[in-house]
Parts: sequence; C-alpha cells; structure tokens
Amino acid sequence: MKEPRITVIKGDITQMAVDAIVNAANSSLLGGGGVDGAIHRAAGPELLKACALIGGCPTGEARMTPAFRLEATYVIHTVGPVWHGGSNGEPELLASCYASSLKLAMTHGCMTIAFPAISTGVYHYPKDQAASIACNAVKQFLAANSLPDKVIFVCYDDENTSHYKAII
Ligand code: AR6
Repeated sequence: MKEPRITVIKGDITQMAVDAIVNAANSSLLGGGGVDGAIHRAAGPELLKACALIGGCPTGEARMTPAFRLEATYVIHTVGPVWHGGSNGEPELLASCYASSLKLAMTHGCMTIAFPAISTGVYHYPKDQAASIACNAVKQFLAANSLPDKVIFVCYDDENTSHYKAII
C-alpha cells in the first residue's frame, strides 16, 4: 500500500530531519516567541542574520533561508494572520501561508516539509478552524503537484494534535 503523503505527529518541529521546516514568523522576520523563538535558538544566530537580509515578509506570504544548525535543510518563514474575529481575510491569509510555503518548497525541490499550526498560538486563531484550513490547503496543493512528496503536521499541544488527527 502506498504511504500517505500527509501525516500528523506530536512533537518539536526544531527536531525534524526534513528538507524544510516552516516557521510561524511575524512580518519583521526578526524572531519572536513560540515556535519562532524555538527555531531561532536551535538554528543559531546565523538564522537571524539571514532573515535580516530579507527585510520582512507580508502576511500570507513566505520566504526561505538555510536552516543552519538544524537537521532540516531550509527554514520557510511564513507570516500567519492575527485572529480578529474571522471576517478580516483571516481564512484566505492562513490558507495562503500554506500554499506559499509549499510553492517555495516545490521550487527548491523539497521532498519533505514540516508545518507547525500557524497562527494558533500568540496570534489566537481558533485551533479547530486553523486545522481545517491547513489540511484543505495542503490537500489542494498536493492534488495538483508531485512535490513535496510528504507533508508532516507537527503539533506541539494535545488540542492541535487531536484536531489534526480528526480531520486528516
Ligand atoms: N514545535 C512545533 N510547534 C510549536 C513549537 C515547537 N517547538 N513551539 C510552539 N509551537 P506561535 P503564531 C506551536 O505562538 O500564533 C511569535 O512570537 C504552538 O503550540 O509560535 O503564528 C512570532 O514571532 C502553536 O500551536 O505562532 C510571531 O510574532 C503554534 O506553534 C507570533 O509568535 C503557533 O504558535 C506568531 O504567532
């Protein structure tokens, strides 16, 4: 039987040995807390220097850097929407984070990519809605493209893990 292209695990995305891990950054790309802080700590100070050269990233878009001291090859930095009630373009912007990240991964020949649950921490996106958007966006992209071959949703908390496992 063919292995599934989408999987869900509970864990720490900084430990993933994949071609690209995705960072839930802010538009400055100059680091922060949550998964962003963890990725910068694990990748080392070269990551901040590489991000500073990019000069920022609009919400819903993505930018790529090397992953420096991480096991992964690349970090794809994407900027999720802050939740303001859901009628300010949040669903489209969140879907765009996943699509933009996958497109960058594809153009760099990445076979494997790991995503955190973008916007579900400091940015307060409702976790169940964010999980559906993430899954739908990834499924839509994979249906149309052969790369990346594998997408791993890396959930850090039990709530996200159960939302993703329920819908994948
Ligand atoms: N591995 C995987 N997921 C993680 C990890 C980890 N090591 N650490 C946290 N998470 P957040 P956001 C989960 O707040 O909501 C930053 O300061 C966490 O449980 O990191 O997009 C940026 O600089 C949550 O489910 O990102 C921005 O300013 C998910 O990652 C802002 O936060 C996202 O939580 C972005 O907010």
